[in-house]
Amino acid sequence: MLDYDREAASYDATRGGEARAEAAAEAIERLLPESARVVVDVACGTGIVTARLRRAGRRVAGVDRAAGMAAVAGARMPGGVVIGDAARLPFAGGSADAVTLVWLLHLLDHDTSAAVLAGAARVLRPGGTLITTVDKTAAVYRAGDERVARARDACVPQASDALDRVLAVGAGHGLAMAGRTTFAGLGQGRSPRAWAEILGGPDAGWTRHADPAVVAGLREHLAGLPDQDLPGPDPIYPLVALVKG
Ligand SMILES: C[S@@+](CC[C@H](N)C(=O)[O-])C[C@H]1O[C@@H](n2cnc3c(N)ncnc32)[C@H](O)[C@@H]1O
Repeated sequence: MLDYDREAASYDATRGGEARAEAAAEAIERLLPESARVVVDVACGTGIVTARLRRAGRRVAGVDRAAGMAAVAGARMPGGVVIGDAARLPFAGGSADAVTLVWLLHLLDHDTSAAVLAGAARVLRPGGTLITTVDKTAAVYRAGDERVARARDACVPQASDALDRVLAVGAGHGLAMAGRTTFAGLGQGRSPRAWAEILGGPDAGWTRHADPAVVAGLREHLAGLPDQDLPGPDPIYPLVALVKG
């Protein structure tokens, strides 16, 4: 995982900024019941999404493990952010109407993501709503080149945030699917040249498990595409709501 303490200063500018955060917050609002008065945003990062969820009559708390990210979030939401681990949430059982997880589960291994889902279920009151992104990295690749996406699909194991897996783990904690929507990663579309660079760098970890000749072929294919510096479409990120029975 990235060192998010280091990322804190550049995170907002490099992850779609205010436009992406607004799109994510709007999508969360579509899934949040009107009645949600206490919302916990887990892995709130810089709070760029979290702060947008505040409303009159709704209390929103952010929690993040990285002190650097939490400090930026705390400046946005004074008194509203705590440092803590998503797998051991520092909130009482049954205390939240909703828990949100935006872009967390895909970063975790299977055991940790299962612990995070269990922790979220514990903190939710009966009838409360968990809202989480799913299939995040797959969405990034789906917005890019089809051949690259197919090659990646062929050599990655099931992601920690795969929808089927989140539903299966959630079911074990009394969570059942209640809704779904998407939001655009505005400004995150990548050009063929940018994709070729990604395939040659550390961010595309799956390429280490792929046949080097296949990866070289993909980079050659990308280099031969027109409009080398024209960004492709923005990724469309799926977001789901699960309700605790
Ligand atoms: C990709 S960022 C997403 C931030 C924010 N949700 C957003 O959408 O802008 C992932 C965040 O998860 C946090 N994180 C990673 N593992 C965590 C854990 N076990 N507990 C709490 N936060 C964690 C990182 O510090 C980072 O701030």
